[in-house]
Amino acid sequence: MTLRLAALSLAALSAASTAMAERTVLSGGNVIDVRTGDIMTDASILVEDGRIVGVGSEDSFGLDGAETVIDLQGAYVLPGLSDSHVHLTSRHDDHGYRGLAVSLPRATISGVANAQKTLRAGFTTVRNVGAGGYSDVALRDAIMDGEIPGPRVIPAGVALGITGGHCDTNLLPFEYKDRAEGVADGPWGVRQKVRQNVKYGAEVIKYCGTGGVLSKGTKIGAQQFTAEEMEAIVDEAHLLGLKVAVHAHGTKGIRTAIEAGVDSVEHSSLIDDESIELAKEKGTFLSMDVYVSDFILAEGEEAGILPESLEKERQVGRAQRESFQRAVKAGAKMAFGTDAGVYAHGLNGRQFAYMVEWGMSPLQAIQASTINNAELFGMSDSIGAIEVGKEADIIAVDGNPLDNVKELEDVDFIMVDGSVFANELGE
Ligand code: ARG
Repeated sequence: MTLRLAALSLAALSAASTAMAERTVLSGGNVIDVRTGDIMTDASILVEDGRIVGVGSEDSFGLDGAETVIDLQGAYVLPGLSDSHVHLTSRHDDHGYRGLAVSLPRATISGVANAQKTLRAGFTTVRNVGAGGYSDVALRDAIMDGEIPGPRVIPAGVALGITGGHCDTNLLPFEYKDRAEGVADGPWGVRQKVRQNVKYGAEVIKYCGTGGVLSKGTKIGAQQFTAEEMEAIVDEAHLLGLKVAVHAHGTKGIRTAIEAGVDSVEHSSLIDDESIELAKEKGTFLSMDVYVSDFILAEGEEAGILPESLEKERQVGRAQRESFQRAVKAGAKMAFGTDAGVYAHGLNGRQFAYMVEWGMSPLQAIQASTINNAELFGMSDSIGAIEVGKEADIIAVDGNPLDNVKELEDVDFIMVDGSVFANELGE
């Protein structure tokens, strides 16, 4: 075929697809501009082929009557929410030694169920910061192929960690030779692991830069990986075009990671004021899971969490919330990450009220979960706001979340990629 003929048939093809384009009108809602907090009352949204193509008055849309119309009158309409820190393939009731009995296929099946619960909660994009055997990559692909419902997933694959660190598994004695897949030591070891993650489909790199609460035998305050290793991880990931999320609770590990150039610090529990300032200077996001402590302390024992972990949580939980408050006051860039999987998937929205209790306005908490996360994910062009050209990831609630952020604990309408996943408005 000549080039010109090819161009012609392409044009014909796109004309045909315009004629058959599926168009949906989300009619007459109170559309929240998450950048400003302004509410456009009685505003409609025109969706075509999974994208937002119009926002405002229906008269301006050039409707031809063939559109599917969904009534959102009286509802408050927002962009789909996002969570920068989830573990879809983990279950909240399989902590500690129980996890040893869970096979990779079994965990992946939990991931299928949990993806659906997460979407049902109004979360249309999540970053999965660590999963065995690239099960999160498989989940992302199954969702993208339309085989199972779920949010957009940004998978990290296996999380990098030092031998015996928070991202290793330390439950069994030496003779079992148990070792997490993401364990690597030394600058070249960690570079190899970053490359392996990219090879198998990871879109973000996660590493453990300090001890953790839920791992056996690790100290929250102790830095894991040297500065040299952290720099190697960040450099290799950035060379390959991936962002880096570090698990870090302790002051020194947080500092070293920010200096090494990570894109987000997960947990950030014992961050000091100097590191908050440095994070601001460098544009590093803080992703602070300020809800999960309540779950761990109230239900953790029953869920299998080790006694030493419960003790560590008692040391870190409140301190993290106070750090969050300082970071918000200082104007740090805040993400919305919850560590879902430690607590039950689908309850992600509970964290909004905690963020407001600890110093954010409802709008700031919503921004963390929409435009801020979009920026952290490198997806500002496609998600995070209801604007022409963005993906049609749209939710609605029946009360004003700027007055009562708990409205986001019970999302009534969810559209992802232009398809309605749930609609309970008016019921
Ligand atoms: N996955 C984290 C860890 O084990 C959970 C920390 C939860 N506690 C908290 N206060 N955020 O370290």
